[in-house]
Amino acid sequence: MTHTKPGFRPANPDFSSGPCAKRPGWSVEALTKAALGRSHRAKIGKAKLEQAIELTREILQVPADYRIGIVPASDTGAVEMALWSLLGERGVDMVAWESFGSGWVTDVVKQLKLADVRRLEAGYGALPDLTKIDFDRDVVFTWNGTTSGVRVANGDFIPADRKGLTICDATSAAFAQRLDFRKLDVVTFSWQKVLGGEGAHGMLILSPRAVERLESYKPTWPLPKIFRLTSGGKLIEGIFKGETINTPSMLCVEDYLDALNWAKSIGGLDALIARAEANAAVLDGFVDKSSWLGHLAIDPATRSNTSVCLSFTDPDVAALDADGQAAFAKGLVSALDKEGVAYDIGAYRDAPPGLRIWCGATVEASDVEALLPWLDWAFAQQKASLKAAA
Ligand SMILES: Cc1ncc(COP(=O)(O)O)c(C=O)c1O
Repeated sequence: MTHTKPGFRPANPDFSSGPCAKRPGWSVEALTKAALGRSHRAKIGKAKLEQAIELTREILQVPADYRIGIVPASDTGAVEMALWSLLGERGVDMVAWESFGSGWVTDVVKQLKLADVRRLEAGYGALPDLTKIDFDRDVVFTWNGTTSGVRVANGDFIPADRKGLTICDATSAAFAQRLDFRKLDVVTFSWQKVLGGEGAHGMLILSPRAVERLESYKPTWPLPKIFRLTSGGKLIEGIFKGETINTPSMLCVEDYLDALNWAKSIGGLDALIARAEANAAVLDGFVDKSSWLGHLAIDPATRSNTSVCLSFTDPDVAALDADGQAAFAKGLVSALDKEGVAYDIGAYRDAPPGLRIWCGATVEASDVEALLPWLDWAFAQQKASLKAAA
C-alpha cells in the first residue's frame, strides 16, 4: 500500500455510470452536421431519426420483426410507457435485486395498483431465484442492475414458449452484453450509457407479441398522451419509423448517430462487448488481489461488465457501520476527484457504501489500468485518516 502518488493518470477520468464517458476521440466537431433549426418532421430530421433506428437495429442485432422507437424521458420514459400500456391484462411477476428494479416494483404496486402482483426480490449482491418466475404471467426485470453490479448471465431462464410478456430494462446492458431478443418482448435503454450518448431520449423495442398485446388490450386507467403507443386500437407505426411524436433534440440525435457510427467502425456489437469485457477484466484482476476491496456481486457469473460495484473488505473499514463506510467511501472518492483521476465513482445513493466503476465500451482499458494504483493510493490516505481519528 503506497502513500506516494502514482506517476501517471488515466487520460480520461470519466468513470461515471451515466452519463458515461464519450467515445474515444469524441469532440463537439462530431455534431456539426446536426439538423439544427429544422423540424424533426422535415425530410432531413426524419431521415436522421430513421437512421438512428436502423443503426440501432444493425448494431444491437435486433430481429427484423421487432419495432424500435425513440420515446421521451430517457430509459425511465420507455419503461413507464411499457408498464402503463401493457400491464394489467394478466398477473405480473416483478423481479428486482437493486434500486432501479425496486423502483419498477413500487410503480406497479403503488401507482398502477395492480391486484395480481408477485414480487421476487433479492438484496444487493445477489439475484432472486429465477426458477421461481412464472412466465405465463407478465415479467418485469432489469438485465443489468446498475446499482449492485449484478446482471443476468443470459436469457436461458426465459422459456421461448411463454404466455406472458417479458419487459426488460436493459439500459446499462445494451451494447455491452448480449441481449437475447427472442426471449424479450420489451427492451428499453437510453443513449447515455454504453455508447456514451446524451441523456433525454429512450429507446423502446417491441416484439410482435408486445404489439399484439397493445392492439388487443386496453388498460382500465387513463394514459397520458406522452405514454400513448396506439391510436384507435392500432399501433402508431410512425413512432417506429422516425416519426417521433414528442420533439426530440436533433443535437442529441446527431450525437447518438456519431456513437452508433463509431460502434460500427470498431466492429459492432462483438467489439463493444469485447471492450467492456476487457475493461472489467482489468478491474477484476486488481480486485482479486486486493486486500481491501471486493465485488458486491457474489456469484462471478452474475458480475456486470459495465457497472462494476465494489465494497470494502478491509477488516477495519468493514467493521464500520453503514454511515462510517459511506463517509470512508466519500473521502476516497473525493480524493480521486480532486486529483482529476476518477470522477463519479461512488456507489449509488441507495446501494451499500463502496465504489462503482463504469467499464462500458467507451472506456479505454488503459485508463482502467492507470486508475488502479490510484485506488490503492486513495485507500491508503483514507485508512491513515481513519487510524488517526481512532
Ligand atoms: C437499470 C436502470 N434503469 C433505469 C435508469 C434510469 O435511467 P434514465 O435516467 O435514462 O431514465 C437507470 C439509470 O442509471 C438504470 O441504470
